[in-house]
Amino acid sequence: MKTVHTIAELRAHVAAWREAGERIALTPTMGNLHRGHLRLVEAGRAQAQRVVTSVFVNPLQFGMNEDFDRYPRTLDADAAQLEQAGCDLLFAPSVTEMYPRGREGFTVISVPRYAHILEGEFRPGHFDGVATVVNLLLNIVRPDIALFGEKDYQQLLVIRQMAADLHLPIEIRGVPTERETNGLALSSRNQYLSASERERASALHRVLSGVADHLRAGDRDFDQLCERGLSELREAGFRPQYLVVRRPDLQRAEVADSEFRILLAAFLGSTRLIDNIPVSAGTT
Ligand code: PAJ
Repeated sequence: MKTVHTIAELRAHVAAWREAGERIALTPTMGNLHRGHLRLVEAGRAQAQRVVTSVFVNPLQFGMNEDFDRYPRTLDADAAQLEQAGCDLLFAPSVTEMYPRGREGFTVISVPRYAHILEGEFRPGHFDGVATVVNLLLNIVRPDIALFGEKDYQQLLVIRQMAADLHLPIEIRGVPTERETNGLALSSRNQYLSASERERASALHRVLSGVADHLRAGDRDFDQLCERGLSELREAGFRPQYLVVRRPDLQRAEVADSEFRILLAAFLGSTRLIDNIPVSAGTT
């Protein structure tokens, strides 16, 4: 596996592959890789001859009081893991390589359908930053397929919508969430948790699963289900921001629906965690 830091080098590699008729997959990341990220690389391998992984901590998607400065940067360890997982090329650009004229006045991609709800409500501007950098990466690499984790479900929908609206000739593929044995979704931000917080954080998946069980049993009182889940989270020491039952496209769920997505965000100490699961509740 090669590591490149400039767009010119990246393009030279990818151009040669494209010339040879090889199918190319892109897995964008912010680094500090774990098993969840590597699943994306493996899924890419299964879909294409070549896998490019980007590692770029994108300043545009962090709010003023968020963790851009302390976000863990572990490029050497990331490169070793990517090599093992069968990645062909690691693209690790600097901020100036990506935004040479700075952030001021830079073209912004916004996906209004999803930008302002749920994560977008609590992290204003976040999805504009995500859509903008992913659009850049897609234009730089021009892959045939790009893979994203369902862990960040709303992000996946933002990127799908952007690709559809802008007619990007790229398949956007979602990959199921990789979890610890206690149910905690793998995340770079889990590193901020103490050992005891990590244990307690299993409550997130437990609460999601509890709501899912009720939906499968035919309960359609969404508000009450979520209220109960929120109480359980508070009792487990979380400060929840939202817990919702939605349609898979994140629109309001209706009683007659049978396919749902349950999503939550909550602080444990100073660490903000998100998670979600799909529910197929059949007809009752
Ligand atoms: P990052 O948080 O590094 O995640 C990179 C990719 O890995 C995303 O598609 C994310 O959904 C996926 N991922 C994270 N944890 C996962 C898990 N437990 N199981 C499966 N997939 C998981 O998401 C971003 O970076 C950025 O917003 C990015 C898309 C790179 C744009 O900057």
